[in-house]
Amino acid sequence: MKFATKLIHGSHSIDAATGALSIPVSQTSTFAQKSVDHFGKYDYSRSGNPTREALEESVAVLEGGSHAYAFGSGMAAISSTLMLFAPGDHLVVCEDVYGGAFRAMTRLFGQWGLNVSFVDATDPAALEAAIIPATKAIYLETPSNPLLKITDLCGAVRIAGKRGLLTIVDSTFMTPYLQKPLELGCDIVLHSGTKFLNGHSDVVCGFAVVNDEKLAQRIHFVQNAFGAILGPQDCWLTLRGLKTLKIRMEESQKSAIRIAEWLSANPRVKRVFYPGLKSHPGYEIHRSQTSGPGAVLSFELEDYPLTKKVLEGVTLSAFAVSLGGVESIISYPAKMSHAAMPSSERAARGISDTLVRFSVGLEDPDDLIADFARLI
Ligand SMILES: Cc1ncc(COP(=O)(O)O)c(C=O)c1O
Repeated sequence: MKFATKLIHGSHSIDAATGALSIPVSQTSTFAQKSVDHFGKYDYSRSGNPTREALEESVAVLEGGSHAYAFGSGMAAISSTLMLFAPGDHLVVCEDVYGGAFRAMTRLFGQWGLNVSFVDATDPAALEAAIIPATKAIYLETPSNPLLKITDLCGAVRIAGKRGLLTIVDSTFMTPYLQKPLELGCDIVLHSGTKFLNGHSDVVCGFAVVNDEKLAQRIHFVQNAFGAILGPQDCWLTLRGLKTLKIRMEESQKSAIRIAEWLSANPRVKRVFYPGLKSHPGYEIHRSQTSGPGAVLSFELEDYPLTKKVLEGVTLSAFAVSLGGVESIISYPAKMSHAAMPSSERAARGISDTLVRFSVGLEDPDDLIADFARLI
């Protein structure tokens, strides 16, 4: 089955009980039991819920995994995954990781004894050199947020494999339509489903996906024990949003390529970060491990006054936190996605005060370009 068909029929295309084409919202906290000795498949919605199960199975099929787990946010998926580790364990993490993940790793999990080293994961030698005896996993984002840096996933898997480490990848920017890290040998794929998977800026959700029974059991244990689950209504909305993932990604990506080229030709734009541009240092690696550059790009403007003018002056795109919606969203990493990172850390990573991130929605690209052209 090809990806577009999987989106519609890969799992749970019809409700088995009624034939409904839309999976019902099982808006219940608990399930009545018939026997003291044998409980039914569902007993309590934190442990399992039919709407959540339909969504989890759909995401697992799309990602090429055996199991997916849905959480109440991308951060809940990330934090629940970090709970697989114990005090004293160490992770090697790509340096321009999402600011919220940086915050959880350093200020939350740091407190309970998890140690992390941030490295430029585009450099395999740096990745390897950061591994110490206590290292248990390599944690990556590719493309990374907000600088769209590319990590060679097969290379990282080779390095991790030599030492028996897990490879964890936040694949939010790509979705399984464009990148399937499990097929490349990675162990856990994370998503902020808030973004392209749901795609309509109306749900906050997250996923952890694996292709290994034991790992699945461990994540399921955390999901149930810690309890950061996604509610049935949000599962239903995400199931609905997911069906159009392919056409949304295709259209937004086509526009992103045009906008990246337009920005690159503008003298007031200092740099464009987009793996669809041949000038991107990770262009070849990205091409080899994905089927497209996606619909998020970042760019650096000439100075701060122009940056402010663009952020406050665009009329079609929302100046907002988040990405991956049908509406284009322009954001300011220094004060939004990476506000949780101290300014010295941001500066060290190249996240400057003139950096703008743009998530391309489904508006006509001519209109989006015209909106920028008024300002830049
Ligand atoms: C790459 C990436 N991972 C994780 C997250 C966190 O997801 P959520 O906001 O759904 O908690 C985000 C949010 O922007 C993100 O961009």
